[in-house]
Amino acid sequence: MRITVNFDKDWRFHYGDVITNMVKSHTNAYYASKTGYQFNPAARDFDDVEWQPVSLPHDYLVSTPHAPENDLTHGYHAQENAWYRKVFLLPQEWEGKQILLSFEGISVNSVIYINGSVMARHHSGYIGTTIDVTDRVGFGDRPNTLAVYVDGRSMSGWWYEGAGIYRHVRLIVKDTLHIQHDGVFVCPRHTAGDDFVTELTVSLENTAYTARCGRLAVRLFDGETVVGEGALDVSLAGNESTDCALSIATTAVHRWDIDDPHLYRAEITLLDEEGTPIDGESITYGYRTVEADPDRGVILNGRPVKMKGVCNHQDHAGVGVAVPDAIQEYRVRALKEMGANAYRCSHNPPAPEILDACDRYGLVVMDEHRLFEVSREELSYLEDLIRRDRNHPSVIFWSLFNEEPIQNTPEGAAIFRRQRATVERMDRSRIILGAMNGTAEGAGQYMDMIGINYGLPVTDAAREKYPHAAFIGSESCSTLATRGGLVTSPRGKIKNSASTAEGYENDPQIMSDYDEEFPSWGCSVRTCWRFTRERPWHGGMFIWTGFDYRGEPTPFAYPSVSSQFGLMDTCGFPKNAYYYTKACYTQDGEPMLHIAPHWNFASGDTVRVVTITNCEEVELFLNGTSLGRRTNDVTEQNEWQVPFEAGRLSAVGYRAGRPVVEAERRTAGPAVAIRLTPDRAALMGDGQDATTVAVTLVDSEGTVLPTATEHVRFSLSAGRILGTGNGDPNSHENDALPERDLFAGHAAVLIEAPATENGTEITLTASAEGLPDAHLTFSVAPFAKGIIVPICTARYLLAFTAAEPTEACPDYTREISDNDMNSLIPISLGAVGDTFTEGWRFYRAQIPATHTSRGGDMNVLLELHPLAEVFAVAVNGREVYRAERVYLPQSVYFTVPQGTPLDIRFLVKSWDHKPSGLGKSVRFSVS
Ligand code: GAL
Repeated sequence: MRITVNFDKDWRFHYGDVITNMVKSHTNAYYASKTGYQFNPAARDFDDVEWQPVSLPHDYLVSTPHAPENDLTHGYHAQENAWYRKVFLLPQEWEGKQILLSFEGISVNSVIYINGSVMARHHSGYIGTTIDVTDRVGFGDRPNTLAVYVDGRSMSGWWYEGAGIYRHVRLIVKDTLHIQHDGVFVCPRHTAGDDFVTELTVSLENTAYTARCGRLAVRLFDGETVVGEGALDVSLAGNESTDCALSIATTAVHRWDIDDPHLYRAEITLLDEEGTPIDGESITYGYRTVEADPDRGVILNGRPVKMKGVCNHQDHAGVGVAVPDAIQEYRVRALKEMGANAYRCSHNPPAPEILDACDRYGLVVMDEHRLFEVSREELSYLEDLIRRDRNHPSVIFWSLFNEEPIQNTPEGAAIFRRQRATVERMDRSRIILGAMNGTAEGAGQYMDMIGINYGLPVTDAAREKYPHAAFIGSESCSTLATRGGLVTSPRGKIKNSASTAEGYENDPQIMSDYDEEFPSWGCSVRTCWRFTRERPWHGGMFIWTGFDYRGEPTPFAYPSVSSQFGLMDTCGFPKNAYYYTKACYTQDGEPMLHIAPHWNFASGDTVRVVTITNCEEVELFLNGTSLGRRTNDVTEQNEWQVPFEAGRLSAVGYRAGRPVVEAERRTAGPAVAIRLTPDRAALMGDGQDATTVAVTLVDSEGTVLPTATEHVRFSLSAGRILGTGNGDPNSHENDALPERDLFAGHAAVLIEAPATENGTEITLTASAEGLPDAHLTFSVAPFAKGIIVPICTARYLLAFTAAEPTEACPDYTREISDNDMNSLIPISLGAVGDTFTEGWRFYRAQIPATHTSRGGDMNVLLELHPLAEVFAVAVNGREVYRAERVYLPQSVYFTVPQGTPLDIRFLVKSWDHKPSGLGKSVRFSVS
C-alpha cells in the first residue's frame, strides 16, 4: 500500500547564495553537464556540516531585520536567496516502487535537486510541485541528497511572500501501478431534491514497463455508514496512464452548507490482479449545489446566500508564511466566529490546510490563481490548482485573476477565456470569475459572475448596463485601523501612502479603530454592508482583510512594516473593526455587543465611546447610571461622549424591547500578574501541533491592563517557541525571538509541542520585570511515530571512477590529466558492478577542499569494506596505507594541511578469483 512520510524534519539550511567557484577545470566543466553532478550545494559531496538545522514549515525572511532601503510591499525585509539540504536513506524494500517528493509550497521560485540532478525548476510560490524521483534515488546504504535552491529575491506579489520551504514536504511511496498524484475527482452531480449522482474520475498510472491489471473499488461513507459503492476492472499497458470514471447514485444526502458543513468520505482502493490492495486514497468531499444568479446573487443549495467574506494573505505573527496547520485552523475559526461565511485566498492558491478548515467550519472559498498568463507553465500551475482543490466542497469560486491592467481589453478577455477553458476541461461545477477593478468589460464579459473590487458606483453602473450578468464584490472596504487606535496620527490623514514622510518624521503612524479610515478607493465596513444588503442581486462582499499582514503598510511607509487593513491584527487579536463587521455579518444572528475603547483614562478626559451591536437598541451605563437608551442600526452604530470616571462602563443590548446581551469595560489598577491564555491547552505529540497563547497583564481583580507595553520573555520546557508577535504594525522586534513587548496590552507567543510516543506535559513560562513568573502547562497526547525515513549524517565518498583491471600492478598514484575523461570510468559502489575477479584495479575518489577547510591540520578517517589480496590507499600521490588479505572493515587515517582538496586512490589486487573491490559505500569523516 501507499506509504506517506512527513518529510518536514531534519533539514539543513544556508541563508544566502553559496559561491563555490568550482567549475574551473576541464574535468569539472565536463562533469558539470553530466547527470548527477553539480558544483553547488546540490552536489552530493557538498559539505553542509556547518549549516543550520531547521524544521519545516520554514520562513527565513521573517526573522531578518527591517531596513528602509528594502521593499515596502514585503515588509522592509531584505529578500535573499537560500539553500536547503537533506541527506536520507531509503529502505531496500522500497526499491521497485514509485518514489515521489511532494512540496506544498516554496517561496518564491525554486530549483529542486536529487542526487545532483535537477528535478524541477518551479516558478510558483503558491502551488506546490510533486516530483517523481524513482529513477534517481538509491536504496539501502546509498545516501540520497535532496537540495532545494530558493530564489527568495523574486517576487510574484505586492505583499509579504516570505521565503523558504514554507509548507509541508512529503515522501510518498507507491506501487508502480497507482493512483496519480491528486488523481481523484469526486464530483457530485445534482439530480433532484437531495439526490445526487456521485461521479468519480480516478487517474491511474502504470509506471512499470510491463502491462498490469487490477481492480478499482470505491466506497462512499457518511461517517461509518457506507452510502454507495462501485468498482471496475482496470488494465494498463506498460507506462500507460488512464482516467477511470465511476458513477454512484447517492440519494437523500446530507448536504454540506455553511451552517451545517457535513462531510462525506470516498475510499478509493486499487487492487492488483490477486486482489491485494496496492494503493488507496481517502477523499473528504461534500454534496452541495452552487450557481450564480443575476437577480439573487450566489445560490447555495438552492437559496441565495449573501457572501459575508474576507480576503486574506498568508502570514501570521511569529512565523511569517510558515503557518502551522493548527494556526490555520485558529484563523479560520476566528473568522467563522466573527460571522464570516466566505474566505477569499487573495491572491494565490492557499495552503491546503486552510481549505480543510473551511470545509470543516463551513466557509465557502474563492480560490485564486496567481498570475494572469497563458504560458504553458502558468496554465500548468492553474491545472495543478484545480486538480489539488477540486474535491473541497468549500471551494465554490475559481478566481483567475485580481486587478489586471489588461483585464478590460481584448487581450485580457483572450487570456481569461484561455484560462477558463483550462479550468472547464477539468471542472465545470463552480463559479468562474476574476476580480476586476473599475470595470466589468473585457474579461468580465466571460465570467459566471463579475467580480468587482471596491467601486460600489461602478457595480451599480455595470448592473444597469448588464442586467443579465451576476455581480459580486470580490474585494471590499480596505478599512484601516490600528488595534486600540483612538485617533489617526497626522500622517495617516494624508492617505496617499509612502512618499510623504517629510514633516511627519515623528508621526506614530497609527490609525483610528472606529471604522472610519480607508484609502481613497475603499469605504467603511458599514457602508459596504449597507450597499450589498440593499441589493438582492448583489452576491456579497469580501473585506480586505481578515488579518493584518506584513508589507503594504498603507497609508504609511517605513518604519511601519505591516498593513493595517485587518479586522484582526497579525496575531488574531480583534480590532474594533472585527466587531463592526461582526455586527453586520451576524445582523440576524446571536446578539452581540462590544464597547470601545477600554476604560483606563485620566479624570477630566472625555472619551469617545462606541457601542457596537447587532441589537435594535442599546443602553450605556457608567458605574450603574444610565447614559441613555438608543435605537441602533448595524450600519450606523452609536457613539457617546463620556466624561471619564474610573470604574465600570457597561452596556445592554435589547431586541423586541428585552435585554438580550451585556458588555462591560472596567478600569484596571496596577498589574499584579501576567496572564497566559492558550487557544488550545491540549496538544498532539506529533512534533508539529502548535497553538498561540495570548499574553496580557492583569490587576488584582483580573482586569486586563489595556495599554500595557511591558517586555515579556518566554521559555518552554520542551518543544519549541515558534515565534512571537504583538500586532503593532510599527514593531521591528524579531518575530523569531522568545520575547516581546506588549502592544495595546497584548502579545502572542506561538509554541510547538514536542513529538512524544508516550504523552507528556510541557510548561510555558513568561517573565516580566517586577512581576511574578507566569506558568502555563499543556498536555501533549501520545502520537505513534509511524514510518521514519532515516537521515544520513555520515558522509560518504560518492563519485568513484575506476581503471579497467590489469594483469600487472598499475601505477595507481600516477597523474591523471585534467582532460582525460576515458582512462578511468565512473562506477557506483554497492550492488552495481564494481567487483572484479582477475588482476589489479585502482579506484579514484575526490573530496573537495571545503571539507578540509575548518581549523589547522585535518585528520581524515576513511571506513571501508574492501575484499582484496593487496589493498593500498594513496592521497594526493602519496601512499598512506597498505595491507594484505583484506576482508574485514578497514579504517584508514591520514592528516592533511587545512584546505587541501583530496585525490584519493584505492588499489585492489583481486583475491583468489573472488569478487574483489571496494565493497559497499566508503564513509569518511574529517576532524
Ligand atoms: C487592492 C489589491 C489588494 C490590496 C488592496 C489594498 O487594490 O487588490 O491586493 O493591495 O488594494 O487596499
